[in-house]
Amino acid sequence: MKPGKDGYNVAIVGATGAVGRTMLEILTTRQFPVDRLRLLASSRSAGTVVETAWGDLTIEDLATADPSGTDIALFSAGADRSRAFAGSFAAAGAVVIDNSSAFRSDPDIPLVVAGVNDHAAFAHRGIIANPNCTTMVALMGVAPLARIAGLRRMVATSYQSVSGSGMAAMDELVDQVAWFQKNRDALVFGGWEEPDVKVYSRPIGWNVLPFAGEMAEDGHTNEEWKLVNESRKILDLPALVVEPTCVRVPVMVGHGIAASCYFDRPVDRQEAIEAIKASPGVQVWADRVATPLDSAGIDDVLVSRIRPTLSEDGGISLWAVGDNLRKGAALNTIEIAEVLVAG
Ligand code: A2P
Repeated sequence: MKPGKDGYNVAIVGATGAVGRTMLEILTTRQFPVDRLRLLASSRSAGTVVETAWGDLTIEDLATADPSGTDIALFSAGADRSRAFAGSFAAAGAVVIDNSSAFRSDPDIPLVVAGVNDHAAFAHRGIIANPNCTTMVALMGVAPLARIAGLRRMVATSYQSVSGSGMAAMDELVDQVAWFQKNRDALVFGGWEEPDVKVYSRPIGWNVLPFAGEMAEDGHTNEEWKLVNESRKILDLPALVVEPTCVRVPVMVGHGIAASCYFDRPVDRQEAIEAIKASPGVQVWADRVATPLDSAGIDDVLVSRIRPTLSEDGGISLWAVGDNLRKGAALNTIEIAEVLVAG
């Protein structure tokens, strides 16, 4: 893919999903140089017409679509689809920017947070991986500190919104909130019956699930391992110690991460504030509390509660919160495309 062209042929794979729809919106608002746009999804959506800034487009069935002629393919249709189809788009000459977990741990595939490790994007061989939304939001706050003082250890707890699990999870939250509301006393005094659960193993309405993702090694979930392994890869710190807990909360959009960070040398609060402020795509809310609702629908990650750690001198605790559909997913894929286009 040549940088600096006036227009590119772009495909969104998973265009009907929560992230895919946000990709379309961001391509439009950022005026990405699109020559021709294609929208792809499953056979269930194929044939549906979507109004876009590039005309009315008919959704194509990914299984039968011809990948040729695509410059940039933005994938967000789940890891199985990425494994099955990203290779054919790359072989046909596209750069695939993949939002799934399929390629993130592959040492030959760059894992890029725009604004943190842009240089890594240029080492691609047809596929670039977009990090997990929790890691991305956390590192927008933590990477500026890692850069100035060398990060040794990070203890991080996530508060992840349901949109990270897709449209079905958003519906499940709305349905369960309404269902429980009819049983209000049971929420206070107990005696509630388990509502229908489809996406999550336990109710998410009016509740908190201290278990995001699926059980993996050593009693940790795969979401927790993503936070460990992706932080190491993006920061290029293979020995970084990460102590993760991933929690799902009844929030529609916006992942929050409470992180305590320990460095090679002491960092004080003011220095931390200055370093984070100087980094692109982040706002420091030094005297205000940033919540998921504040982050929903905006591009910047919000960092607040910046304070010294108590267990060790010179560490910093902070709270980072960001729109998991935007910086945590769709925005970052498009920012990676912008890095490639700028060359
Ligand atoms: P579809 O709407 O046709 O099912 P989300 O995670 O928000 O639910 O979005 C998932 C996205 O991935 C949707 O665009 C969905 O399309 C797409 N998708 C799911 N399964 C397939 C499949 N087998 N082939 C192509 N796209 C798929």
